[in-house]
Amino acid sequence: MISQDSIQQILSRIDIVEIVGSFIKLKKRGANYLGLCPFHNEKTPSFTVSPAKEIYKCFGCGRSGNSISFLMEAEKYSYVESLRWLAAKYNVEIEESETSPEYKQQQQVSDSLYIINSFAQKFFSNELFNSEEGQDIALSYLKERGFREDIIKKFELGYNAETKDGFTKLALAEQYNLDYLQKTGLVNLRDGNAFDNYRGRIIFPIHNQSGKVLGFGARIIKKNDKAPKYINSPENEIYVKSKILYGSYFARQAIDKADECLLVEGYTDVVSLHQAGIENVVASGGTSLTPDQLRLIKKYTNNLTIIYDGDGAGIKAALRGLDLALEESLNVKLVLIPDNEDPDSYVNNLGTAAFIEFVNNNKKDFILFQLGIALKDVGNDNTKKAIVVNQIAETISKINKTEDFTKQQDYIKQCSEILKIEEIGLHALVNKFIREKIGKEEIRGSRDQRFTDVFSLDNKGLVDNEVTALFNKDEIHEQAMIRSLLEFGLKNWDESQKVADYIFKEIEENQLEELIDNKELIKILHTYKIWYNAGIEPTSKNFLYHEDLSMSTLVLSIMDFDYEISVNWKTRFEGHIPTREELFSEEVFSTLNYLKLRKIKRLMNENQGDLEKSTTTEDQMILVQTHQHLKEIEIELTKQLGTVIFR
Ligand code: UTP
Ligand code: MN
Repeated sequence: MISQDSIQQILSRIDIVEIVGSFIKLKKRGANYLGLCPFHNEKTPSFTVSPAKEIYKCFGCGRSGNSISFLMEAEKYSYVESLRWLAAKYNVEIEESETSPEYKQQQQVSDSLYIINSFAQKFFSNELFNSEEGQDIALSYLKERGFREDIIKKFELGYNAETKDGFTKLALAEQYNLDYLQKTGLVNLRDGNAFDNYRGRIIFPIHNQSGKVLGFGARIIKKNDKAPKYINSPENEIYVKSKILYGSYFARQAIDKADECLLVEGYTDVVSLHQAGIENVVASGGTSLTPDQLRLIKKYTNNLTIIYDGDGAGIKAALRGLDLALEESLNVKLVLIPDNEDPDSYVNNLGTAAFIEFVNNNKKDFILFQLGIALKDVGNDNTKKAIVVNQIAETISKINKTEDFTKQQDYIKQCSEILKIEEIGLHALVNKFIREKIGKEEIRGSRDQRFTDVFSLDNKGLVDNEVTALFNKDEIHEQAMIRSLLEFGLKNWDESQKVADYIFKEIEENQLEELIDNKELIKILHTYKIWYNAGIEPTSKNFLYHEDLSMSTLVLSIMDFDYEISVNWKTRFEGHIPTREELFSEEVFSTLNYLKLRKIKRLMNENQGDLEKSTTTEDQMILVQTHQHLKEIEIELTKQLGTVIFR
């Protein structure tokens, strides 16, 4: 416990403008100061600080408080941590009064670990620069990889020799406690013998926000299949992996300035980018981001750009749990580094300017990217597709802050197009997830697990009939058209032609691939046409016994469709309800029309997209004309459809 006296001393020094001002930019406005609220997303400043009253208030989100509550909120500090931060800032020496024994104990362990780490860091750096082995093996290795000496020193890199216990012996001789040495992971004990854990390795110290060494990552130099490439510090009182972002100590100011945080996988990526002058960069160590890490980023910026090599494993890890970033209203972009490169090698190859240009030109939207890789594995598998639909709906549902509402709408539109499902349906599903979320607070651990499953696409338990129905809608119409061909193709359409002739003519005019997405259905159509033109009468039976099993199965499932007469039919034909047989020409007409209408809608969307991108008035005029033309066709088709109601 900090004594009341110390607290009073700290409080008397507090300057709220200075404290808040070290986190956000403040501008003087009359007696007050104004800035962008750090607690919610805003573009025009409504965060007001009153130096006279020593309080702040945001007129946007309503949050208010004093210097201490600001630190607690902004830095996620506890009350005591805030006081300690202030004490350090204003050079107030803290007097401790009756501390709880547990706290004292933990504090003491933490302090000891920091002291050992600092000692070790200096030892390793000295080894690197001043020992023969360090110079010959480690320093030359680092220099060969292109690392400059000033950068090696800035990041306090080091080396530990191959010898069994060089560090351990010295540490023990200097009276460092063996238990604590083990806790830091620097020393191992086997059969009563203490020896160095990181032998023959380059040492990357990991710093906390104030520059103290929390732990180490130790990279092997010589190729060795038996030993891991990196050995990292074990979890202890100060090294809590889920809260650490490598490089954040050195990146803090640059992130603030650039209003963007770059996230890479590895230690060497961070160091190399720094060397290239790109300093707003941190590393996650190749695992998925944790809530604490995201919050750490969020303190400095709302813009997170993930730069990974495109090999898949790393990127999938990075994506996992990123829905949390959406909840925190972080704008996440992805940049994939080309084959066999990582940011470290790539920046070395390209140079700084070209690397920055590459990053800026290759930012992909995180949600659409996620959808892209998930869809890659889907193929024609509806079960897998249902999982993807579910997952993307859940992801989109995380964007539920009022200010991101339009963003959410945009995503629903874009994703439903990519997935070829109806926008309204996806909308409903997203809303369902939002409702569910409001109802229950999810357990972080189990959620992470679920994301793994979704990405490996092997959890069929997630499939929801509702979703299957949703994305089948489009396909059902395609199937309906093929079914009408299979069933009624040989009937007379008019005096001069059969239904099949009519369908093939219409399809030719509209281009098959633009009408039907499902390749298997297209195959059925082709087969029908070949038989028909060869004078064979293609009936469903021919198909059901076809040697191509996938085709016969599909035909079977189409024929099995349980046909229901819509309510509209019933009211239109009072008394006698006509059979499909009697109404075949209307069915043929309307199924074809539906697909034509869908095609027109897609063309209109495309045209709309072009219009948004177009720059010259000439282009715009052409596009507007195209739009009008398409609109006319749409109206005509809708009219025709309106007279024929097909369920
Ligand atoms: P990489 O294998 O990409 O290593 O792992 P790197 O940092 O780029 O190293 P170089 O360039 O090959 O020398 C990326 C990160 O994953 C973690 C480390 O944090 C590493 O920086 N990692 C990797 C481990 O923790 N243990 C391992 O065995 C390997
Ligand atoms: Mn690398």
